[in-house]
Amino acid sequence: MSKKLIDQHVYDLIQSAYTANVLYALTKARVFDQLLVKPASADALAADLGLDAQALQALLQFAHAIQLLKRDGEVYSVARRAFPLAEKGKSWLRSYLLLWGEQLNPAFAKLPEHLATGANAFELAHGKRIWDWYASDPGQNELFVEYMAGVTNQAHLPVVIEELALHGASRVLAVGGGTGSLACGLVERHAHVRADVYDQPSNSRNAAQKIAARGLSERCAFIGGNIFASVPAGYELYTIKHVLHDWDDANAAAILRCIARAMEPGARLTIVEGLLDRPFEGVEPEPGYLHARNIEQRLWTPGRVRTLPEFEALSAQAGLRIEQVTHSRIFDISYIRCAPKD
Ligand SMILES: C[S@@+](CC[C@H](N)C(=O)[O-])C[C@H]1O[C@@H](n2cnc3c(N)ncnc32)[C@H](O)[C@@H]1O
Repeated sequence: MSKKLIDQHVYDLIQSAYTANVLYALTKARVFDQLLVKPASADALAADLGLDAQALQALLQFAHAIQLLKRDGEVYSVARRAFPLAEKGKSWLRSYLLLWGEQLNPAFAKLPEHLATGANAFELAHGKRIWDWYASDPGQNELFVEYMAGVTNQAHLPVVIEELALHGASRVLAVGGGTGSLACGLVERHAHVRADVYDQPSNSRNAAQKIAARGLSERCAFIGGNIFASVPAGYELYTIKHVLHDWDDANAAAILRCIARAMEPGARLTIVEGLLDRPFEGVEPEPGYLHARNIEQRLWTPGRVRTLPEFEALSAQAGLRIEQVTHSRIFDISYIRCAPKD
């Protein structure tokens, strides 16, 4: 590779930082929403939205250059590929971008300090650990809940429900199952299955509403509790999806121990989570996404995306052994099936 091309590659990588920042600012200012209502010039749009016309013009030109806006003379309109950034698009990508701008980007600014000391970047940026911060700021918590439900329902669940092997289990408990998306999906797909959700009592009302609205109350219920204190017994299959990556090793092992205590002979646990060392042949997108996801998780929470040997060590501490690992076509999902140690 010539020096010029190498320089170009590095330049492109640095430039990519502008994109998410510009998209965040335009999305937060409701530019895509307004342009969907009425295509407009920068001046007219700035007047409608109460923005600075020159600053807006620069951002619109950038969005046009990256093909998220169309332009006819001075008038901008929304290109189809930008629909997920408008509220009408109902995409999880919009709440992810807003959450990125409000919550993660300030933590990213603390990356050099995190690198030097290992300190939690979210806490450095926001003054509190993630869960305490969410507890103290309902608006930001709501943004997180909206993002989590969106990514789970739109991006993960259609695939997970198809891929998750029940191995004949007919009683399933989704531990840390939020407001019940996975449990509802399993009950809808498998006529013989009862699937309950176990999560913090604060999710009870939303979960109950969702379960009732889908007409599933006879085979699906929400159980409120604390995953560090106890987990209900009596299920053949326990699942825990995208929860352990929020926690450091001591807390992740404590959660697994609680589940292991609840498991009766013959019961199994399937951990549904990314594996940093998974093979990627034939799977899109690139493995680099998983490493970015790991950095995001480390900045956001006290946890991280783990490797299989790390899960083996955690499971062993909890009295479990891993008996099977399969990988989803989604890059940050693998299925790690555990049994009680003999
Ligand atoms: C990252 S979310 C994952 C939710 C869901 N499994 C999904 O994939 O969409 C983590 C979940 O863990 C739950 N959680 C955190 N601490 C908990 C605790 N002490 N007891 C019960 N649930 C807890 C949260 O309420 C939240 O629903």
